[in-house]
Amino acid sequence: MKFFIDTANLAQIEEAQALGILDGVTTNPSLMAKEGITGEENIRNHYKKICKTVHGDVSAEVIATDFEGMIEEGKTLAKIDPRIVVKVPMTKEGIKAISYFSKEGIKTNCTLVFSVGQALLAAKAGATYVSPFLGRLDDISTDGLGLIEEMRLVYDNYGFKTQILAASIRHTMHIVDCAKMGADVITAPLSALNGLFNHPLTDIGLEKFLADYKKGNV
Ligand code: E4P
Repeated sequence: MKFFIDTANLAQIEEAQALGILDGVTTNPSLMAKEGITGEENIRNHYKKICKTVHGDVSAEVIATDFEGMIEEGKTLAKIDPRIVVKVPMTKEGIKAISYFSKEGIKTNCTLVFSVGQALLAAKAGATYVSPFLGRLDDISTDGLGLIEEMRLVYDNYGFKTQILAASIRHTMHIVDCAKMGADVITAPLSALNGLFNHPLTDIGLEKFLADYKKGNV
């Protein structure tokens, strides 16, 4: 299972990279705006910085919504760095663009996926990754994890190579549950990744080991 961090914050990316467990980064226009990164050139430069920091795939989202615009923008993004994955929304134009990029050997991430039918289309188009937004489904009282489970079943039925990238993860248990469901990748905020470390028995156990060591070595 790959771990991606879902942020455009360089300090957080560096912190996760330093742990040695990071496989990539996902961003979106909202995450860029949150960091105050605006304007095409600044955004491109920020992707360059992210690609220098992380040793894995970096999703960069197109803003265009028409096929020609997505192709032009996607090609420009892909030229920034071999790590760039062009993130394309789940629309008819988006699926056409993913199919085009797939034939051109450009990696893609089909974003804003909320149903098995949409996931099937992304796989048929040859997307490298597909991003089901489980937290946003949970927000509207729909079973986000259930979608991951159903996608896994359908992809395995046909041996689709598209990787299920569980997105819109809100907390640590989402990561654990996605691992149980067989998601290929999770993308999570740093807080959810850090939550994986925590167990009170680890803290208590370590404290006792250190105290006992001190007793014998004073
Ligand atoms: C996925 O790639 C998106 O950037 C992200 O996971 C969306 O998460 P949100 O629903 O918390 O905004």
